[in-house]
Amino acid sequence: MLLEGKNAVVYGAGGHIGSAVTRAFAREGARVYLAGRTLPKLEAVATEIAAAGGAAEAARVDALDPQGIERHLGVIVKEAGRIDISFNAIGIRGDLQGTPLIEMPCEDFTLPVLTGVKTHFLTATAAARYMVRQGSGVILTLSSSSAVLSGRDRRYHLTGGFSTACAAIEALSRSLAGELGPMGIRVVCLRPNAIPETWTGDAESARVKTYMENGTVLGRLPTLDEVAHAAVWMASDRASAMTGTIANLTCGSIMDST
Ligand SMILES: NC(=O)c1ccc[n+]([C@@H]2O[C@H](COP(=O)([O-])OP(=O)(O)OC[C@H]3O[C@@H](n4cnc5c(N)ncnc54)[C@H](OP(=O)(O)O)[C@@H]3O)[C@@H](O)[C@H]2O)c1
Repeated sequence: MLLEGKNAVVYGAGGHIGSAVTRAFAREGARVYLAGRTLPKLEAVATEIAAAGGAAEAARVDALDPQGIERHLGVIVKEAGRIDISFNAIGIRGDLQGTPLIEMPCEDFTLPVLTGVKTHFLTATAAARYMVRQGSGVILTLSSSSAVLSGRDRRYHLTGGFSTACAAIEALSRSLAGELGPMGIRVVCLRPNAIPETWTGDAESARVKTYMENGTVLGRLPTLDEVAHAAVWMASDRASAMTGTIANLTCGSIMDST
């Protein structure tokens, strides 16, 4: 198993991406610590993992609250001794999309930017302070194809502040990788394209899905399983030479290295 003996904390572990990655981490042998705002959702995933023979604990943690994050990590380290993997998958209000920037209230534009940058800064630096003492660890961050203009015509998507938020998270990830690399800590940002399984199945979603699929080289969009498998590999020692990178999980809607 790729993550045998590792302790992993996942923020937003009750969400689509967070729960898929948490389950995959557990399947690969990691002891998983599920953090998020809604305890019943986290407990449902933790119970499922435990029933399959994995080790999982759920806790209510607001990933925008520095004291709450610190308290939670302190409990983990007291119990398990170390933090090997930190992954932040919280929702950053990517739903505030569809409005042209020139018609968008400034608060709607800045909300995902401030939320995304703040939560990734707080969770990554809090884990890194423990990882520095250990001399090892992996921090995974999460952006999306919106970080750069993607798709066939390169002018999609009316993404409001979400695009800027994702670009900022990627920049933060590179800065952290540069700072933490000499201390043995890797930082990798996962950049999935939109994942249709996480959408509502209405007519507009179907239209957007077709449009986005037509803008990828593979002619489709990624699945939750594909994102989870990539997260496992990036978090594992098999990816030990990899840091400061953006893992391009866009099915080829982006073809360059940025
Ligand atoms: N889904 C996609 O197609 C896609 C594609 C590319 C990138 N992404 C990125 O991935 C993020 C997550 O996507 P998703 O589909 O997994 O969203 P989701 O299903 O809505 O899950 C987001 C999770 O984040 C939790 N959360 C939100 N604010 C939090 C906070 N302050 N502290 C702790 N937990 C918090 C939510 O908990 P509560 O339910 O308790 O609020 C929820 O469980 C998106 O925001 C986006 O940045 C998504």
